[in-house]
Amino acid sequence: MQPELTLFSTIAGTGSALPERIVTNHELAERIDTSHEWIVERTGIHQRHLVSEGQNTSDLACAAALQAIAASGIDAVEIDLVVVATTTPDLVFPSVACLVQQKLGIVNRCPAFDLQAVCSGFIYALSTADNFIRAGQARCALVIGADVMSRITDWNDRSNCILWGDGAGAVVLRASDTPGVLATHLHADGRYRDLLHAGSAPDGGGCAVRMQGNAVFRFAVRTLDEIVDETLEKNGLQKDDITWLVPHQANIRIIEATAKKLGMSMDKVVVTVDRHANTSAASVPLALDTAVRDGRIKKGDTLLLEAFGGGFTWGSALIKWMV
Ligand code: UT7
Repeated sequence: MQPELTLFSTIAGTGSALPERIVTNHELAERIDTSHEWIVERTGIHQRHLVSEGQNTSDLACAAALQAIAASGIDAVEIDLVVVATTTPDLVFPSVACLVQQKLGIVNRCPAFDLQAVCSGFIYALSTADNFIRAGQARCALVIGADVMSRITDWNDRSNCILWGDGAGAVVLRASDTPGVLATHLHADGRYRDLLHAGSAPDGGGCAVRMQGNAVFRFAVRTLDEIVDETLEKNGLQKDDITWLVPHQANIRIIEATAKKLGMSMDKVVVTVDRHANTSAASVPLALDTAVRDGRIKKGDTLLLEAFGGGFTWGSALIKWMV
């Protein structure tokens, strides 16, 4: 009998989706006490895409998934795992993953589930799917990060409403005999709920993000600094082995700090925060898809994906680009 090949996973195709409606900083400044200049200077954000009435996380997730499926050249029937990272599911249940499975007509009864790690969600989902494939429990996974943060934003809270956007990004992850996903590293520290959380307001006024932005900012810079070190060290890499940094798009100043840590010039960093704002679990796969489609990311490149978010959660993925 032939010995089983060691299984690895590789990204076979990417996709993304943004709602059509664009809201500029100037439009926000008409409604709350802020300005385009302040938002650009403190965050790098110029605009965000927001859903319209009736548009849900699963709609964006499906649109991104269809692009990823087309780009990878697979037949949807081959998908044997669906993982959706989201903090803003359409419903409490069924999961967005089950809704996606139904909407895409994947009738092969493969497992489908959501995973919640807020802005780090896509890195967590990618790591989970990679482990399913390495364990031989899946061969072709649809991994999606999708969020409609506008539904849990208090649009009168100027301290964080200016940050959020809606969107989705997806990848098809396939089993391969050479590693595309070289490594993933995940962390969480649950002690900081007071700094960043969303839940029912004590006054019963619905669920909205509450954040002590400055403290979160400092924690994010520090932990992303640490995860860069950890990822390079544990994988025997030097800073200049990384071709592209694909960071979570929370704030241009956080992204610049991570690039500086890597000694990377900003033209090797994928930046979409100016156009997309912070789309939570969608931000990393949206940035990835952007740079794949415009031809910046090429076969043989080594990518460092990283994210930090509520929980706190943070993580990285080291990817060899194979397509
Ligand atoms: O993705 C999940 C993780 N989240 C993040 O990584 C976000 C991390 N945090 C941030 O990106 C930044 O902290 C913010 C962009 C949210 C805020 O920027 P900051 O430079 O940390 O500002 P700050 O909170 O220290 O506030 C500075 C000043 C304050 O006024 P005073 O007290 O100095 O008079 C705020 O009241 O800016 C004021 N301010 C605003 N002014 C105009 C706060 N929000 C606004 C606003 N427009 N929207």
